[in-house]
Amino acid sequence: MKAWLSCLKTDLPTDLCRPEDLAEFELSHAFPHEIFHFETDESLGEGYRIIRKPDRSFLISGGPCGILYGAYALIRLHLSGCSLPDTLSSSPRYSLRMINCWDNMDGSVERGYSGQSLFFNNGRFSYDPFRMRELGRLMASVGLNVLCINNVNVHYPAQLLLEDYLSEASVLADIFRPFGVRLMFSVDYSQPMRHGLKTADPLDPDVQNWWKETASRVYKAIPDLAGFLVKADSEGRPGPFTYNRNHAEGANMLADAVRPYGGKIIWRCFVYNCRQDWRDTKTDRPMAAWEHYAGLDGRFAENVILQIKHGPFDFQVREPVSPLLFGMKKTNLAMELQLAQEYTGHQIDLYTMIPMWKELFEELPAGNIMSMAAVSNLGRDANYTGHPLAAVNFFTYGLFSWDPETDPSLAVSQWIRLTYSFTQPDTQALLSVLLSSRRIYEKYTAPLGIGWMVNPHDHYGPNPSGYEYDLWGTYHKANRDAVGIDRTAVGTGYLLQYPESIQKKYSNPETCPDLYLLFYHRLPYTFRMQDGRTLIQRIYDDHFEGYAETEAMAKIIRSLPFPEPDKAVILARMDRQLQNAKEWCDIINTFFFRLSGVKDAHGRKIYD
Ligand code: GCU
Repeated sequence: MKAWLSCLKTDLPTDLCRPEDLAEFELSHAFPHEIFHFETDESLGEGYRIIRKPDRSFLISGGPCGILYGAYALIRLHLSGCSLPDTLSSSPRYSLRMINCWDNMDGSVERGYSGQSLFFNNGRFSYDPFRMRELGRLMASVGLNVLCINNVNVHYPAQLLLEDYLSEASVLADIFRPFGVRLMFSVDYSQPMRHGLKTADPLDPDVQNWWKETASRVYKAIPDLAGFLVKADSEGRPGPFTYNRNHAEGANMLADAVRPYGGKIIWRCFVYNCRQDWRDTKTDRPMAAWEHYAGLDGRFAENVILQIKHGPFDFQVREPVSPLLFGMKKTNLAMELQLAQEYTGHQIDLYTMIPMWKELFEELPAGNIMSMAAVSNLGRDANYTGHPLAAVNFFTYGLFSWDPETDPSLAVSQWIRLTYSFTQPDTQALLSVLLSSRRIYEKYTAPLGIGWMVNPHDHYGPNPSGYEYDLWGTYHKANRDAVGIDRTAVGTGYLLQYPESIQKKYSNPETCPDLYLLFYHRLPYTFRMQDGRTLIQRIYDDHFEGYAETEAMAKIIRSLPFPEPDKAVILARMDRQLQNAKEWCDIINTFFFRLSGVKDAHGRKIYD
């Protein structure tokens, strides 16, 4: 068994068909000497209530999945060394806690760093049923309940999931059902046109009927399908704009089709001009989502959920919370995170995400959204996540999407204890490495909110001008005097998309938090930071510190008693991370030194 499941010593039998049966099985193996009673209480839904009775037996109440989640909560506590409480109850903050796999049917995974697809190969379903059950168990053990199995970019033959491959998809749905995991499909907005329709216009009655008939067929095969995930009018995907329809018209048409079955339409808001001319200074890409959607607030059907990336760009190491997450009070929203380390180290560099998620919720009221989604970091590698320590992101995402008040250090240390049998000091050492890993990565790559200095396309390693003259709207505009974009009211006006309190926090460069400074402001290298250093000195310092801290982290990692095969993988990747950090540090510092001509105040080596 893999990832943190290695703490559950027994494989699951294949004949357990209901979440309650799984709960009973898991508990009987984790606690051979305890007695459990179960009481189905549908009113608790996915929540649970656990009471230890005077005779020391446990009563677990909840809906069927609630009982399963309660069982795993007890098991997680017990196996991570905590004593069992006399009462424990919880219910999820968000109803859909989704994993979005970007898996293609040829077996590749878009932005995947853990091997090939777990579900597909050669244009067909191709999976190991044992691993599917293991994945169901991984998900249920941390409360995740929706699995979208195919890429949001729907490449042929993924359309066949709704057609010829539907019966096979239904077999897969059967495998996941006992784990409380419902499948979801990404759909191609133009799919009716594969069947002779001349248009995919959402207001066309033939198109509407096509989707209604399709939904009826799909739901007959998979009655509990969570719904459809849609990337429309985004990076070249088809969508309602072709027919001069807005996205409420586009999404509501699909929503009508799935409504009779309780299905949802998860509509992504990653819509921007991906053919921008770098000379165009009027267009500011982070403003795009708000411009497209804010005016449609209140016009989406009740079973549409807008899925919005957490930041206004695209999963950079540091971005402010997307303004759209504040601006649509009358619409169902989901926040999209990315567990796949696309811009954050490809599961080579260590990067534990929960501290970053926590920061997002320091600004965003938890009630602004009703669901969470995360791009998967899983693949066919034996350990699922390529880097064994990247599993912490999957695990903590489950806990966090159940309860965004989850404490990062408790969640990460629980994962460590379930995964490795370390002494207390070793657990502490790994915990501090993991919790600081994001900040360290940020320092050696793109500190101060600058973003986009990465190699284009594959997104690993430094290339400070790589995106500067490209089509993607991702410019830092560093010249010999200054760097950054002015996004205040006198600049692009992006900041005006936020509530006033947020505008105030960031609009003045003298008081704007350092970590976001160059996201919001264009500043000369001579600018005095709040800590008294000049901007250019701070850029140099952050990069040198990031590299030095990576070296310190490597020492700790090398000293820890990881078991094989994890150890070999972890050490090899740590070496690659060190090289990467050095490359980033030297290239970015050289880039700014050559532009500015300003020497490092401490005389450290920067290349001419
Ligand atoms: C990024 C990523 C793409 C992906 C897109 C999306 O741009 O690089 O691979 O398709 O996000 O979220 O749709």
